[in-house]
Amino acid sequence: MSDNEIRVRDIVLTFLENNQGEYISGEKIASNVGVSRNAVWKAIKQLQTQGHKIHSSTNKGYCLDRSSDVLSKQSIEKHLNTNVFDIEVVKSVSSTNTILRQRAEQGEKEGTVLIAEEQTHGRGRLGRDFFSPINTGIYMSIILRPSIPAEKSVMITTCAAVAVAEAIEEIAKKEAKIKWVNDIFCGDKKVCGILTEAALAVESGTLAYAVLGIGINVFPPENSFPSEIENIADSVFDNCDTTENFRSILIARVLENFWKYYGDIENRPHFEQYKRRSMVLSNKINVISGKNTYEAFALDLDENFNLIIMLPDGEIKHLNSGEVSVRRK
Ligand code: BTN
Repeated sequence: MSDNEIRVRDIVLTFLENNQGEYISGEKIASNVGVSRNAVWKAIKQLQTQGHKIHSSTNKGYCLDRSSDVLSKQSIEKHLNTNVFDIEVVKSVSSTNTILRQRAEQGEKEGTVLIAEEQTHGRGRLGRDFFSPINTGIYMSIILRPSIPAEKSVMITTCAAVAVAEAIEEIAKKEAKIKWVNDIFCGDKKVCGILTEAALAVESGTLAYAVLGIGINVFPPENSFPSEIENIADSVFDNCDTTENFRSILIARVLENFWKYYGDIENRPHFEQYKRRSMVLSNKINVISGKNTYEAFALDLDENFNLIIMLPDGEIKHLNSGEVSVRRK
């Protein structure tokens, strides 16, 4: 496809997205875009090949079906009330975090967002894989350039955790809890993981950049979860309901919520929200530290989001990393 064909295709998609569920005549689209009806027709064919459900009728024109749920810059931006983000959506990548880290190194700006319909090598914390099957999840990374000291990078992860939990509650109308430090749970299973990767500006001790990666299981995977994670992973919605474009709306809400907190990140504006949604505080927990696991009681969070725990002998510790699980009573 030539650059011009891509441009026409993108504008046609903007039209269809902004009028989703309604017919618009080929003539109207053509005159607005400033191209021939044949060019519009070609763009429609291209969009259909990409999976967009577009009906065509000789008398009425073209209509993007309400259930068409292919992620695109256009499908997300129509739900966004800010233009601070530069969004790119791709079908399949190795890992959106890996790609954006490379671009951040090359100087790409804050607010650059990369979203994929599928990741072939999705990465989680502690060197784990993140299962990222096609069409049912959100796999999104954002380049950030905050002027905060490196040791405060946990603020980014925790802002994102609150942003995701709030978005899930608003859109899916179900409770979303945060498992320290970066997992979102609905019920007793994980529906979202967050991975923040940062580079240090050595002279200043501040962050040169951070790449915030968010993975949300929105709908059940087409071929169910792999056996290794089926007992611990779940999706936000129980069925694949594409009538409302939930993935695009969720992305827009997560981005907006995150930006709201991120703008004031040095003052920890999300601290109370994070604590309120914590599923570990005031609970008996297991702390997994390397090959060892020990029992503790989760007392509180300190101002740096360290988890304050009490050991069985009464000793108090502040954990700044690691993995915890809530013990069943
Ligand atoms: C975890 O649960 O340990 C963190 C998972 C983070 C997954 C997201 S999906 C988008 C971004 N790209 C990746 O490869 N990982 C993050």
